[in-house]
Amino acid sequence: MDLGIRGRRAIVNGGSAGMGRGSVLALAQEGAELYVSARGEERLLRTCEEIALETGASVTPIVADHSTDEGREKILAACPEPDILVGTCSPPPFTGDYKTVSNKDWLDNLEVTLLSPVQFMKAVIPGMVDRGWGRVVNIGTGAAKFPAQVRILSGPPRAALVNYSVAVAKAVARHNVMVNNILPGMHHTASIHDSYTALAAANGTTYEQEIQKFIDEWKIPANRFGDPDHVGAFVALFCSEQSDFVTGQSLVIDGGLTNATF
Ligand SMILES: NC(=O)c1ccc[n+]([C@@H]2O[C@H](COP(=O)([O-])OP(=O)(O)OC[C@H]3O[C@@H](n4cnc5c(N)ncnc54)[C@H](OP(=O)(O)O)[C@@H]3O)[C@@H](O)[C@H]2O)c1
Repeated sequence: MDLGIRGRRAIVNGGSAGMGRGSVLALAQEGAELYVSARGEERLLRTCEEIALETGASVTPIVADHSTDEGREKILAACPEPDILVGTCSPPPFTGDYKTVSNKDWLDNLEVTLLSPVQFMKAVIPGMVDRGWGRVVNIGTGAAKFPAQVRILSGPPRAALVNYSVAVAKAVARHNVMVNNILPGMHHTASIHDSYTALAAANGTTYEQEIQKFIDEWKIPANRFGDPDHVGAFVALFCSEQSDFVTGQSLVIDGGLTNATF
């Protein structure tokens, strides 16, 4: 299926690894023109080069922290009029007892998980409205919908982001600007690889054993973690020409962990 976005300009914030990378790959495969931000230069340059080589798309790296004003200015200077905006970040740290989460923890996390995507939407959606075409996808977390004490720094800010994006989605839908969210469960991303490899080293186990422990404890029906490139494919679908009547939605991708009837 042709998603009809060849030549569309797309910003992907947090696109050098994980589901952000998967999104860059899927959009590049559809012929979009990519502008990809991340803080770490080496991995970002490598990712952009690999994807450009594999797909033939134009993939421009922007070394920037999208949670800062300076970073946002740099990203928007490289691509002032995007047709597509995809936003993600690294998973916030796991939390223990809710009483141990400090005000600083909250404020640091709000910058990257909530305020940054809000600032980007404010900056780029008016232009999308004027041009009569736009797609926005925020990659949040399943914990936004299904709260847990261990995800206190991840779920609540993204629940607010979903609420905000649905409000904005309703305000701009008549201009063919569609705003949706992906709420992932557990996937084999760069951050998961790092944290579960460290856990395995500490416990004298393997990465695979630690993943299986999590799957068994949380009873993931698919009995595995997901593939971030497959999340990227869903992101691209939400960014497609055909996605012109789908807005304000939040798609949970978690191997069946949190399914209800509706
Ligand atoms: N992985 C999972 O199993 C899982 C489960 C539930 C929810 N999620 C959610 O899914 C989203 C993506 O997670 P992931 O596992 O794919 O992350 P990841 O593998 O850590 O990749 C995150 C990407 O974002 C970039 N990034 C992080 N902070 C940034 C910033 N301030 N400015 C610019 N770029 C930034 C990282 O590059 P640099 O570090 O170089 O900046 C990297 O490219 C997150 O919202 C996470 O909470 C993930």
